[in-house]
Amino acid sequence: MKCLIINGSPRKGNTWALTMLVKENIQKLAPDMEFEEIQLKDLDLPFCTDCSLCFRKGHLYCPHHEVMQNIMDKISEADGVILSVTCYQFNVPALTKNFADHMCFMLHRPRYYNKKALIVSTAGGYGANGTTKYMEGTFRGWGFNKCYQLPVNSISWNNYKPTQKDIEKCRKVTEKFYNDLSSRKLHPPKFGILIPFNLFRGMSKDYKPGTEYESRDGTYWDESGLADKTYFPLVPLPIHKRLFGNMFYFIAKKVSGKMIVTYKK
Ligand SMILES: Cc1cc2nc3c(=O)[nH]c(=O)nc-3n(C[C@H](O)[C@H](O)[C@H](O)COP(=O)(O)O)c2cc1C
Repeated sequence: MKCLIINGSPRKGNTWALTMLVKENIQKLAPDMEFEEIQLKDLDLPFCTDCSLCFRKGHLYCPHHEVMQNIMDKISEADGVILSVTCYQFNVPALTKNFADHMCFMLHRPRYYNKKALIVSTAGGYGANGTTKYMEGTFRGWGFNKCYQLPVNSISWNNYKPTQKDIEKCRKVTEKFYNDLSSRKLHPPKFGILIPFNLFRGMSKDYKPGTEYESRDGTYWDESGLADKTYFPLVPLPIHKRLFGNMFYFIAKKVSGKMIVTYKK
């Protein structure tokens, strides 16, 4: 199995130290686990320019596509992703937000349904929970099947020494993440994930080639075989969630022609 570690912080500091503890824990559980690292700061990814080409024409048209495709490929090749991200102003640093902005089109066209993530964050005293929670929602929006969170208060600027309590918390969360990863079990999606999935699926018919506002959304759902699926077919979906998702699909299908959305303009 393969784990991709993404460092979304501008340095290898407190959060990186905790992430390396996670890595050691996994190595103890699975000595043959392969690891690959991405240091976002070394990629020189320019800021998202709001050109919206990813939404309208497809992510291949992003002016920063080469950098982004490399990251996307590495995520696709991995079984699990560990995001190491410090807390700045109760949220992620600009480096990670910029990366997430470049991936935002996936809210319209999700993938990664068989990937699981672990989000690691440290804050001096307050905000690590909000930071991991924010990224959990983001990863789920991209299609990730499950996201574990490890938020910790470092009570330190640059000299974090994990307490016994932190070490134990890290061990438990890592174990859960690894056990889930190795089980290869896919979990049913949350209700909140079925809403955007089915809204964008339902609206996609109004963006097909030849329509007034054709966009990549209009081809993605057919090409991926998801146009007639309430969720990714390999992910279990209980009947009540199926009904819930389909309700949003039918609403979206009905009203999308009358809706004004940004890229119609
Ligand atoms: C720009 C900046 C913003 C920060 N914002 C917060 C914050 O909102 N809450 C907090 O408790 N600590 C905050 N801190 C402290 C760091 O989150 C904390 O020291 C963290 O452990 C540093 O992790 P790192 O070494 O991985 O960057 C901030 C530090 C910086 C440099």
